[in-house]
Amino acid sequence: MRTQVAIIGSGPAGLLLGRLLELACVQSVILESRSRDYVLGRIRAGVLESGTVELLERAGVAKRLHEEALVHDSCGIAFAGGQLSIDLKGLTGKSVTVYGQTEVTHDLMNARAASGAPSVYEAEDVALHDFGGTSARVSYRHQGVAHEVACDFIAGCDGFHGVSRRSIPASALKIFERVYPFGWLGLLSDVPPPWHELIYANSDRGFALASLRSPTRVRCYVQCSLEDRVENWSDEQFWDEFRRRIGDEMAARVPNAPSIEKSIAPLRSFVAEPLRFGRLFLAGDAAHIVPPTGAKGLNLAASDVLYLYESLRSFYREKSERGLDEYSPRCLKRIWRAERFSWWMTSQLHRFPDDAFGRRMQETELEYLFESRAAQQSMAENYVGLPFEPMGGS
Ligand code: APR
Ligand code: PHB
Repeated sequence: MRTQVAIIGSGPAGLLLGRLLELACVQSVILESRSRDYVLGRIRAGVLESGTVELLERAGVAKRLHEEALVHDSCGIAFAGGQLSIDLKGLTGKSVTVYGQTEVTHDLMNARAASGAPSVYEAEDVALHDFGGTSARVSYRHQGVAHEVACDFIAGCDGFHGVSRRSIPASALKIFERVYPFGWLGLLSDVPPPWHELIYANSDRGFALASLRSPTRVRCYVQCSLEDRVENWSDEQFWDEFRRRIGDEMAARVPNAPSIEKSIAPLRSFVAEPLRFGRLFLAGDAAHIVPPTGAKGLNLAASDVLYLYESLRSFYREKSERGLDEYSPRCLKRIWRAERFSWWMTSQLHRFPDDAFGRRMQETELEYLFESRAAQQSMAENYVGLPFEPMGGS
């Protein structure tokens, strides 16, 4: 088989890239190691920046989003018995859109299925070849049969644990990483949210987040130990702990609602530089990870994909390699800004072991945030999403 762009991974990054390329008449094949149902069963964050929403509109996959998503003009911070509502709209003119990543993936998958563009699910032993030169290939096995795709480019959209980044010689990549000494225990429940905005809480017992997916579904988190197991937490224990952390104003309204999903995720900051090796381009979680505080993961994947799409389109339309050459530095500027913001939110809101000085810094930082419009504006500007970099660096 031959195609123009072989896309590894059918998460939001791979699917959005495939969709934008399709609209620009560039062919692609998506190779995904998991099944469609498995990909759609993953519960991830659900806050979209306005730039991400515009990109989904441009990709023609925002109809259901506009019917079902919730637009939030503010977000909350709970700390030391007080609750601050950050007026995102008033401070930046922008809002955020609450729509689960699973739903974004669903809409993109449906659009690809409807167009007939090829995707191979449950592709085994995906391997990348000869992408240092101009004759890149990807091999894989499907239902016991060996296949190979020859292509102009490979887009590595296969997440943090994928094969793409690992196929680049280690000497060609510089890795920047911070692993945090805690995780998030998340619970999904079908109950109307008693809060009208997302609330991020710093409490003496650790971080908590009150989020939601729809007018009838909540998603909540508590900071937990990395050794913790989901089986150790009954729903009742989760809600008891959540109430102790979320602040008195909210605690009384939190019901003991049964979970429909519970999982523990570790927190990590990670960047691999550069995002290009020859004809292989990394995008999304394959190149970088942010801790979920601030909900930047999917939004950052979307900006990588926009830049890669624009670079490939200019290659095919104008025979120009300039966009491809600029791809990695262009991505990295926005990636590092989102890394900074996610690290900052994580640092200010979680309980770190044995760090009395750090605790005082958090108290001081959050008091300042509660009192200063300038500090709130800085947070709001990052939370709603920094602008995309134009191609050409101007
Ligand atoms: N071959 C083919 N596919 C693979 C391989 C492989 N060797 N390894 C992983 N994959 C697939 C995964 O099964 C997954 O479906 O690649 C896909 C990567 O998708 P995501 O992990 O969702 O990553 P990405 O599309 O970059 O989306 C970024 O995901 O982690 C969240 O918060 C993050 O919201 C952000 C978003
Ligand atoms: C979520 O709804 O899962 C969510 C929301 C905001 C975050 C992280 C996760 O910062």
